[in-house]
Amino acid sequence: MLKKIVMATNNANKLKEAGEILAPLGIEVISQKDAGADIEPEENGTTFAENAMIKAEAVYDIVKIPVIADDSGLCVNALDGRPGVYSARYAPKGEECARLLDEMKDIPEEEREASFKCVIAYVDENSRFTVDGSCVGRIGHEQRGKNGFGYDPIFMCGDRTMAEMSAEEKNSLSHRGAALKALYEKFAKKG
Ligand code: IMP
Repeated sequence: MLKKIVMATNNANKLKEAGEILAPLGIEVISQKDAGADIEPEENGTTFAENAMIKAEAVYDIVKIPVIADDSGLCVNALDGRPGVYSARYAPKGEECARLLDEMKDIPEEEREASFKCVIAYVDENSRFTVDGSCVGRIGHEQRGKNGFGYDPIFMCGDRTMAEMSAEEKNSLSHRGAALKALYEKFAKKG
C-alpha cells in the first residue's frame, strides 16, 4: 500500500485538496519542493494528459517515489475547445476573464456552454496512468465574485459563478475534485 505521494506542484491549495481527498487511504501528499525536485518542466504537450504526464515523469525521474501531476484548463464549445491547454497563456494573469468575455461578446446565451477539465497523471516504478474529471457550466456575460482564481468569475455553475462559491463548495463540484475522486477510487480498488 502506498504511503507517500509527491505532487508535482508547489501550489498550496492543490496540495491541501489532494491531501484531504487521499488521507482516508493513509496517503500523505507532499510538494515536489519538499521532495527535493525544484524544477518547472516545459509543458509543451498538446493535450492535458500529455502535459500532466510530462510533469509527473520529470519529477519522478528526480524523486523516485510515486508522483501525481495535474494539468487543467477551460474548454469553450463555441471556440472549438479553446483556450484548452493554453488557458494559462491565453492572456496576462488577471486579464483572462475580460479577454474571454470580449471574444465571446457576440455569442448568444444558448451557445455559451463550457467545461473545466483536469487530468491527473500518476507515475511510479511499475505503472503510469491518467484519470480525469470535468465540470460543465457556461460562460456568463460579466465577472462576478471574488473567490477562486483564473476563469472562476465568469464560469457559471447553475446561477452563480465559481468565484461566488466557498472553496469547499467549489471543490465538491470542480474538475480537479472529480479527477482526485477518480484517483481515490483507483487506489481504493488496488488496496
Ligand atoms: P493549471 O493546470 O493549474 O496550470 O491551470 C491552467 C490554467 O487553467 C490556469 O492558469 C487557469 O487559467 C485555468 N484554470 C484551471 N483550473 C481552474 C479553476 O478551477 N478555476 C479557474 N481557472 C482554472
